[in-house]
Amino acid sequence: MDFKKKLVNIIKKAIDLEERYIVIDPVPRNFMNDFDYVLSCFKLVKIFKKDPNEIAVEIYEKISIDLDLKILEKIEVFNAYVNFRINRELFTCKIIREIVNKKENFLKNNIGKNKVVLFDYSSPNIAKPFHVGHLRSTIIGNVLKNIFKVLGYKTISINHLGDWGTQFGKLITAYKLWGNKEKDININFLNKLYIKFHKESEKNKELNKTARDNFIKMQNDDPENIGLWKLFNNISLSEFKKSYENLGINFDFYIGESFFNDKMDFVIKELNKKKLLIKSNDASIVDLSDYKMSPCLILKSDGGTLYPTRDIAAAIYRMNKFNFYKCIYVTAIDQNLHFAQFFKVLELMGYKWAKNLIHVSYGLVNLEDGKISTRHGKIILMQDLLNQAIDNAKKIILEKNPKLKNKDKTAEIIGINSVIFNYIYNSRTKNIIFSWERALNFEGETGPYVQYTFVRTCSILKKSKLTDFDKLIKDIDFNVLSDNISWKIAKILYEFKEKIIESSEKLEPCVISRHIMNLAQAFNEFYRDNIILDNNNKKTRDARLILVYCVNMVLKLCLDILGMKTCETM
Ligand code: ARG
Repeated sequence: MDFKKKLVNIIKKAIDLEERYIVIDPVPRNFMNDFDYVLSCFKLVKIFKKDPNEIAVEIYEKISIDLDLKILEKIEVFNAYVNFRINRELFTCKIIREIVNKKENFLKNNIGKNKVVLFDYSSPNIAKPFHVGHLRSTIIGNVLKNIFKVLGYKTISINHLGDWGTQFGKLITAYKLWGNKEKDININFLNKLYIKFHKESEKNKELNKTARDNFIKMQNDDPENIGLWKLFNNISLSEFKKSYENLGINFDFYIGESFFNDKMDFVIKELNKKKLLIKSNDASIVDLSDYKMSPCLILKSDGGTLYPTRDIAAAIYRMNKFNFYKCIYVTAIDQNLHFAQFFKVLELMGYKWAKNLIHVSYGLVNLEDGKISTRHGKIILMQDLLNQAIDNAKKIILEKNPKLKNKDKTAEIIGINSVIFNYIYNSRTKNIIFSWERALNFEGETGPYVQYTFVRTCSILKKSKLTDFDKLIKDIDFNVLSDNISWKIAKILYEFKEKIIESSEKLEPCVISRHIMNLAQAFNEFYRDNIILDNNNKKTRDARLILVYCVNMVLKLCLDILGMKTCETM
């Protein structure tokens, strides 16, 4: 059911205008009591070459003649605007019927049928700490994948681990110098070694050379160095996987950078064949000055490959293996140039599909006292954040609901949800200044607030003892739900499908999280102002209950998309 589309069709029929010119917007919420949609005629001035107010009157008159009174209850002209009011009863009836009929499938769509979309996200660097900055990629990538899945795409998630590169030379050097007596080598120990290396190398420049040599040895399959590389990989990876488990995040593939070591000769050959590779100070580069970009570095002076070289090889591999429709990379904004460069190189290599590579960047996560720096140990570890959030949730539960069963499980769900929601509630392009206070805040527009609303719907439904909503829907008086707040809820529910499409187009999770917040707030207003389980008035009770059922269903579906688990009590 798509009222907006119907409205556009009505207007189209009346004034014979191409659909793309008819832009109908929802009336801003504070004005919604009178009207629901508005057509602004300012945009039509160029076509009709008339005063916009005159256009509005003309459209109004034409539409009024063959007005479909079933949908439109009222239409009015105000200056250059034509305002429409939709028949609430009919609208609410349709949307609620649709939700009850389709249930878990309510939000599903098949626009993505037969199309494969790849998501490259999280992709932390091995032997470097997994910090709160990477969490942003991890969460945004996972939500985007879920959004595309709901839209019917075949989604594939890839963790492009940073498991190759000069940082290993440094770590191996540090380990050989200061770490080889340590028995319990864990991630914290590796982090400390990494920081120590940077500190010491500022004083002793020789260390950098040793690190380079160790990396070259590693590239040449030196058994000792390769052994250490494997050890560090295993330690990091098992630690990362713990965090992923906490977050409820899975990857279809872990294909790290090292996987491409034997696939880069092909890239070099192709680049040479196409005369794209040139020497510059002993290094090999692709000149991108025609595109107003600095050159893309392909080979170092010692012949070693680089991050872009591996990304080029990875993209070609992914295309061959998955034949993707789109390949989406989620990283911080400071990698914009890297992606623009290697996308361009692939295009110059003649790969038409390069236009289907998309970089989704997000603002940096900074600390209150400046930038995150793994080298200087200025970081907040992701796992620390998750643990603190869970502890915090537990404290609140003990204070507010000490008799709750499954306290630990509930605290985990609420704590993790608070982190996830917090990370996607603002536009991804905004920088974040990480503060513990904000990260652990449970009041106001937060994940726990949404979760609490969900619990409220669960408890009403439980108290009602109703289970058969398919039967209940047959006999509902939808007029009961034409009051302002019920109507607001119905409209928000209706808008979710559009919001999901919008968020997929903008590649922006906050379109959904914001709308969820609208729903939660509207529902709490509804709950505050109405008696739902009114045993003296079956008609009202049934209608309100069915609305609660729909809110519950849609909340659950949307929280699933955001990767947030739900609990029914808290
Ligand atoms: N490992 C990189 C980092 O931590 C992110 C990798 C993103 N994916 C890619 N294909 N380049 O910054």
